[in-house]
This record gives sequence, structure tokens and C-alpha cells, in this order.
Amino acid sequence: MPGNVFIRLLLDYLFIFYMSMWIIFPAYLANAVMVPVSRRLEKRGWNHSMDGGKFLGETRVLGAGKTIEGALAGTTIGILGGIVQLLLAPAFQFISLKWHGFYGSLLVANGDIMFYIAWNRTSMIRALIFPPGAILGDMMGSFIKRRMHVNRGESLPLLDQLDFIIGVILFSLVSHGIGASLIQVSPLYLVPIIILTPLIHLAVNRVAFKTGIKDVPH
Ligand code: CTP
Ligand code: MG
Repeated sequence: MPGNVFIRLLLDYLFIFYMSMWIIFPAYLANAVMVPVSRRLEKRGWNHSMDGGKFLGETRVLGAGKTIEGALAGTTIGILGGIVQLLLAPAFQFISLKWHGFYGSLLVANGDIMFYIAWNRTSMIRALIFPPGAILGDMMGSFIKRRMHVNRGESLPLLDQLDFIIGVILFSLVSHGIGASLIQVSPLYLVPIIILTPLIHLAVNRVAFKTGIKDVPH
């Protein structure tokens, strides 16, 4: 196919984006499902706040927006989704390698596809630790917001969008010993994750707000 360097680079950027999204997927899923699932559960009275209604100083420790049900749903569905992804990995790896060779990638190494889009130990650990990491990061974000006297549901730009990724990075650091941390992900994929997550988060939340899934657009 295209000998044209410009086209190959353009396709490379798309490919790097795809790889980044593949890597971070269990964290995105965990973070995304909390809203609709906890909303359904809330209708049945299943909304037990994680801080038990307790205050730290004048404000709630975490606030009513962080529920045990939401955290459990996010972790469970995130992990299950990560496992489904793992099952699909061999097929995706095969197709990815073919496409990568076909357009003649300049920036992505063959070995990256073999390593990241794969049925291997590292991917398994990612599926297990990213979801709880994302939930913890989201809690940390709310904890910081409450200390700054930002009310539940009010926006705090960047922290609102990146708290779960920060959680994944910190949680990955802690579990570094068992081998799979987001820190070990090549900067080629980690940097797009960090830069693009706020934009993706805002876009998805805006759609969720417009369709009535979420009460606020951030
Ligand atoms: N949610 C939940 N349990 C969690 C996280 C989220 O039940 N552990 C649900 C809540 O219904 C919450 C919604 O998902 O209102 C949106 O999450 P988020 O934007 O993180 O919470 P906010 O309500 O905006 O509160 P905060 O200001 O603390 O971010
Ligand atoms: Mg919020």
C-alpha cells in the first residue's frame, strides 16, 4: 500500500490511538459504568454512600456521589470487560499485525502489538488492577474536591476527568511487584492516554448528559 510517508504517519497516529485505548479499556469501562448502573440501583434504594454520611470538618469525607454499589459495579464490570477483551485479544492481535504490516507502520513496533494486544500475564493483570485503581482514583478525586469545598456534582476541571487515570497509575505503582503497571506502558501509548482522556471524558459525558444518563455534563 501507500509508500507515502505522510499517509503512513497519519495511519500510525490512528494506530497509536487504538493501542492506547486498548490498553486503558478496563479502566474506562469501570469508570463509565458506575454512572448508569448506580442510577438504576439507586431507584431500588441501593445507594449506600462510602463515607457513611460522615463529615471531615465542614464537608462530607467523599460525598453522596460515591456509593458502595457504584464502586462494586464499576470494579466487577470493569474486570469482566477486561476478561472479555483478553479473550478477544488473539483475534485482534492477528488483524492488527496484518493491518500494521499492510500500511507499513513507521512508529509502532511489531513487538508492541504482540505484547499489548495479547493473551498474556501482563494483560491479565491490567484487567484485574485497572478497574479497582480507577475506582480508587475517582474516590480520591472526590476527597480532594470536598477538601476544596467543591460540592458534589460541581465541576473541578482536569481533576474530574483525570482522577481515575491518576488512580490507575498510583494503584499500578503499588502493585508494581506483580508486574503490570501503567508506568511500564511505553510513553508512546501512555502520553496519548493522559492527553486524550480529558477530551474523551468530556465528550462522552456531554452525550450522557444530553441523553439523560447523567445529571451534569462533566
Ligand atoms: N457513582 C457512584 N459510586 C461511585 C462513583 C460514582 O454511585 N463510587 C455515581 C453517582 O451517582 C455519581 C455519578 O456516578 O453521582 C457520577 O459520578 P461522579 O461524577 O464521579 O460523581 P459526582 O456526583 O459528580 O460527585 P463528585 O463531585 O464527588 O465527583
Ligand atoms: Mg462529577
